[in-house]
Amino acid sequence: MSIVDDAAFAAVRKTPNPRSSGTPPAYFSAWDLHAYYGESYIVQGVNFNIHEGEIVALLGRNGAGKTSTLRTIARLDDPALKHGEIWLDHKPVHSMKAHEASQHGIALVPEDRRIIAGLTVEENLRLAQIAPPIGWSIERIYELFPRLGERRMQEGVTLSGGEQQMLAIGRALARDIKLLLLDEPYEGLAPVIVQEIERTLAEIKKLGITTVIVEQNAIAALQLADRAIILDMGQVVFDGTAEAVLNDAALRQEYLAI
Ligand SMILES: Nc1ncnc2c1ncn2[C@@H]1O[C@H](COP(=O)(O)OP(=O)(O)OP(=O)(O)O)[C@@H](O)[C@H]1O
Ligand SMILES: [Mg+2]
Repeated sequence: MSIVDDAAFAAVRKTPNPRSSGTPPAYFSAWDLHAYYGESYIVQGVNFNIHEGEIVALLGRNGAGKTSTLRTIARLDDPALKHGEIWLDHKPVHSMKAHEASQHGIALVPEDRRIIAGLTVEENLRLAQIAPPIGWSIERIYELFPRLGERRMQEGVTLSGGEQQMLAIGRALARDIKLLLLDEPYEGLAPVIVQEIERTLAEIKKLGITTVIVEQNAIAALQLADRAIILDMGQVVFDGTAEAVLNDAALRQEYLAI
């Protein structure tokens, strides 16, 4: 099946293709994404746009499809995108493989952080800059995360969880990125470390890096975000301001159980 297979999904499609509507495209647009792990149909017609410089909290209960949606956008092999379009800065990401999406500026910081064993902090950062597009200098990353500078010669995998998260974010910034996708950056971290990473993400926000943050700690994510998208069973059930979700206890209870 080709990625854009209109006939197969015509029955479930609700949103017109932004390409054919004549309106100018958003900076990022996910249109009618349907993605599968083998036979398991998981991402079921996800639609959303992101403006340049916006921070979006992508929320939902366990198993709602948040990680799967990020993986689909980053064009990883699993889940496989069977239908839909992904556009970032006028380029068709749905036609790209993962390495091409990365070259085009999509950076996924996965939940497990993927720090490379046997390499120091600095080597992990340098490895990210082995090929273009190169982003921040290593020194600038150390300015944002002084702890990484202090531990530059230490093996990356021996860092604490919070420092590994900083390294994973630093490694994303070491490349010239257009869209930062963070999957549960606060997971398993002590509150004091969460605060430190929150401060850094607030800095990143000031720099205007377009970001999607997936977090179980929805309140923390909403406080950082401009907008919230809530997923349930692989579909978008809410798309609005972060403030609207913070102010709507019934909505939070229904879809976030908080
Ligand atoms: N590799 C896989 N193969 C088959 N099904 C999978 C796979 N990974 C995830 N799923 C299923 O896809 C659905 C969505 O999972 P996903 O990990 O995207 O949810 P999530 O919203 O990130 O949840 P969590 O909050 O627990 O991280 C779940 O039902 C999950 O069991
Ligand atoms: Mg997840």
